[in-house]
Amino acid sequence: MDGDGAARMTSLEGAVCPRMAHRVRFEEGVFEGEALASLLEPFDERPARALFVLDDGLGRAQPDISARIGALSERLGMEAETAEVPGGETCKNERGIVEGVLERIRDARLCRRSYVVAAGGGAVLDAAGFAAAIAHRGVRLVRVPSTTLSQADSGVGVKCGINGCGVKNFLGAFGVPWGVVIDHSLLRTLPERAWRSGFAEVVKVALVRDRGLFEEVERGAGAIVRREEIAERVIRRSAALHHAHICGGGDPFEMGAARPLDFGHWSAHRLEEMTSFEVSHGEAVAIGIAIDVEYARLAGMLPDAEAGRVRACLAALGFEQSHEALRDEAGVLEGLESFREHLGGRLTLTMPTGIGRAIEVGEVDEGKMRRALARVREGPARHAAGAGAARGVR
Ligand SMILES: NC(=O)c1ccc[n+]([C@@H]2O[C@H](COP(=O)([O-])OP(=O)(O)OC[C@H]3O[C@@H](n4cnc5c(N)ncnc54)[C@H](O)[C@@H]3O)[C@@H](O)[C@H]2O)c1
Ligand SMILES: [Zn+2]
Repeated sequence: MDGDGAARMTSLEGAVCPRMAHRVRFEEGVFEGEALASLLEPFDERPARALFVLDDGLGRAQPDISARIGALSERLGMEAETAEVPGGETCKNERGIVEGVLERIRDARLCRRSYVVAAGGGAVLDAAGFAAAIAHRGVRLVRVPSTTLSQADSGVGVKCGINGCGVKNFLGAFGVPWGVVIDHSLLRTLPERAWRSGFAEVVKVALVRDRGLFEEVERGAGAIVRREEIAERVIRRSAALHHAHICGGGDPFEMGAARPLDFGHWSAHRLEEMTSFEVSHGEAVAIGIAIDVEYARLAGMLPDAEAGRVRACLAALGFEQSHEALRDEAGVLEGLESFREHLGGRLTLTMPTGIGRAIEVGEVDEGKMRRALARVREGPARHAAGAGAARGVR
């Protein structure tokens, strides 16, 4: 184009579509094995630089982790440091923690080809991931999830976020992690509550996508609670479903209105905020599933018996499915508005129409939603009863 052409130009169109690998590896003994080591590629024949961000809950429960990270760094000849951060929602609520990680990234002189290796629960992966996303506009992030929830769901996701201005996940970014290594053996020290939490996300994804997985969880709920081998299998399946949705669902960065894997989350996020995060994410998701299942049942979308089975399955996994905060119906319903804003303008909720099947709905009947809240407040037993609900649950 000549100079005159450029002067007359009124618009430019193009497509920006970088292809990014989304690598998830499953390996026991993450710090001794090959999966993590091979992700930490040398650069210009110099060993990788890395900052390990370690969840202090994981660090306390498994005090050998620091030494194991040290041995890995030595094996790879890497310059690596470790920053320990408070685990749990605290690290997403206190901005200073992200700033502290950013300072460590600066002090360790990490560049865009260096690594932040975040090891911990979903909250630490979110906070460290956010720091990695904004430092130099993106340092490579490797996640080592250490809770059931982060192995079944958030660790394989493509977003990070921290809480801000009183809103859950208000600050955050989309980005594909450089890699994820899922090591089931890290879960052995999880306290009961954190162990249970992840299976709410497994039920969520199974309910909207995979009837077989739901039935496996339903039949094996007792064994899952006892931490038998089935737990690892359903966590892997859930991770694979989340991964497939991101890689093959056509909308990895959530540009469209539909968010099928956020089923049950509009109220879950609100409940976390309303209880100042006393209710954990997984517990809130279990309640959120119960609310939307009751709504779908009242709206005639979901057969009674199937709704009952979902409630019974959550109960068999040990979820309460109710909370005092649900009395504040108007407060909970505000979650619909926040969800709409978060989606980008148009409310779209995923509702189950059967186990393993779901549709998107654009409108919510407030009266029915209030009745759904009331049913959930009453607890699962009443509405699950007689529905053949406990079928196969042991
Ligand atoms: N980014 C996403 O796509 C996404 C998706 C789902 C959930 N999340 C977020 O994930 C968070 C919840 O994550 P979570 O359920 O993993 O809980 P969590 O991160 O809050 O961890 C729970 C507790 O377990 C401790 N812990 C971690 N690993 C341990 C181990 N192996 N042994 C002993 N203790 C251990 C932590 O220190 C913490 O005290 C929420 O903030 C939620 O918003 C993010
Ligand atoms: Zn979730």
